[in-house]
Amino acid sequence: MHFALIYLFIIATSAYAIPSDLTAPVVKHAWAHIPEGWEVDAMPSANHPITLKIGLKQSRINELINTLYEVSDPLHPKYGQHLSRIEVEELVKPHPESVYAVHDWLSMHGVNIATEVARNSAGDWLSVSLPLSRVESMLAAEYRVYRHKRTDERVVRTTAYSLPRALHDHIDLVQPTTMFDNMRKMHAMFHVDESAAPLLPEGTVLPDVTGPAGYVPQAADKGNRIGVTGYLEQFVNFADLQTFYSMFRPDAVGFNVSVLSIDGGLNDQTMLGVEANLDNQYTTGISFPTPNIYYTTPGTAPTINDSVTPPQRDEPYIDWLNFVLSHDDMPFSFTTSYGGDEQTFPKEFANRACNLFAQLGARGASVMFSSGDGGVGAGTCLTNDGTNRTIFQPVFPATCPFVTGVGATFQIAPERGIDFSQGGFSVYFPRPSYQAKAVPPFLEKLGETYAGLFK
Ligand SMILES: *[C@@H]1O[C@H](CO)[C@@H](O)[C@H](O)[C@H]1NC(C)=O
Ligand SMILES: *[C@@H]1O[C@H](CO)[C@@H](O)[C@H](O)[C@H]1NC(C)=O
Ligand SMILES: *[C@@H]1O[C@H](CO)[C@@H](O)[C@H](O)[C@H]1NC(C)=O
Repeated sequence: MHFALIYLFIIATSAYAIPSDLTAPVVKHAWAHIPEGWEVDAMPSANHPITLKIGLKQSRINELINTLYEVSDPLHPKYGQHLSRIEVEELVKPHPESVYAVHDWLSMHGVNIATEVARNSAGDWLSVSLPLSRVESMLAAEYRVYRHKRTDERVVRTTAYSLPRALHDHIDLVQPTTMFDNMRKMHAMFHVDESAAPLLPEGTVLPDVTGPAGYVPQAADKGNRIGVTGYLEQFVNFADLQTFYSMFRPDAVGFNVSVLSIDGGLNDQTMLGVEANLDNQYTTGISFPTPNIYYTTPGTAPTINDSVTPPQRDEPYIDWLNFVLSHDDMPFSFTTSYGGDEQTFPKEFANRACNLFAQLGARGASVMFSSGDGGVGAGTCLTNDGTNRTIFQPVFPATCPFVTGVGATFQIAPERGIDFSQGGFSVYFPRPSYQAKAVPPFLEKLGETYAGLFK
């Protein structure tokens, strides 16, 4: 009797201590309902290949963020002492315990770590290509082909996924899972109002515009460069660029942008693309003669060819960020005209992408994002957390405290904010300390106006 009890006890302990940590799944992220605008279209094939990307917890990310604030603060002794690629990678590389835990889990699911797992140079992203059926069992997820009702785009996603509890401390996120394709090109509200009265009477001679410190023309010296990012099959057209210069920036005629392809991103000259054209024309129209690099990221991966399963459509921000961060040499200004309502990004995704922007910042880059062009909300103003409250919807990535969100104005003297420009308060990210002086007086002035519509 006595022995039997001990025997049972040992079985119970070992059964508990060894595998259950890596088997009992706990929800990592789930939506309250199918994301706005999407519907279930079909069952994907069980063999559909998924390139699973696993974002491991970055061991010293808080140190990286503190450093970012120090090197960015003109009053701090470390101002301007940006980090190198290697120094950033040292701060974001995962703790060995995280690596072991994730390796154990992958091995348990039959993945050969040595031959099947790829990693980026910091080691904080692992990727492994697996058939959908295996991914579903690893993540306790149910993937479907979802169709976007307006654009007819199709993606293979799940509305929830889980990880063993023991891995929640080691993994920030796994993709592609619950992140639907929700990046709007910010030309969605490309405003051309043919009937509008001219802002100034014809023939008006404009005074030279001078800022507080006077206007200093850009110089293309010291390796100064600007990076423009394009996603989702948007291309810059070289002939259109010259036409634009000849109309609006005649001294730039003959200037060009260089195109850098990531993961086989194209720059098709036969396809019309408004956004990349617009972005490159207006960026170089201002920054000429500073060299301009246009990054083209495809956002799709190979697939099997059946009638229902669309190609894997990756979320391209992280691919692009990992690409740029893996190089020692990079531009020090980036501008991007894409974004989506903050709430449509899984919070874990927004956090991780925001930390990647912090990495760019720590290396000395300024990152600009459009603040949005849907006024106080371009899609739905209802919250998607199951409560359906009405709020003003801020746009991510502009809400990330490590980027500069840029809105639109019109007129000069007085310059005025234009009504479709977007802004607002992040729900995901707390107010950064550098806004501590500006925001409270603004809120005081606002009083009860719009109370409850923003956080
Ligand atoms: C700009 O670069 C592209 C790609 O290299 C080239 O095809 C095009 O002719 C160039 N345009 C000019 C005006 O140099
Ligand atoms: C995929 O299948 C379609 C017909 O279903 C065919 O037209 C197309 O050429 C195929 N593509 C490849 C890459 O095999
Ligand atoms: C919120 O809206 C969704 C559809 O957008 C609906 O399915 C759900 O029932 C609504 N929930 C509440 C609490 O009204």
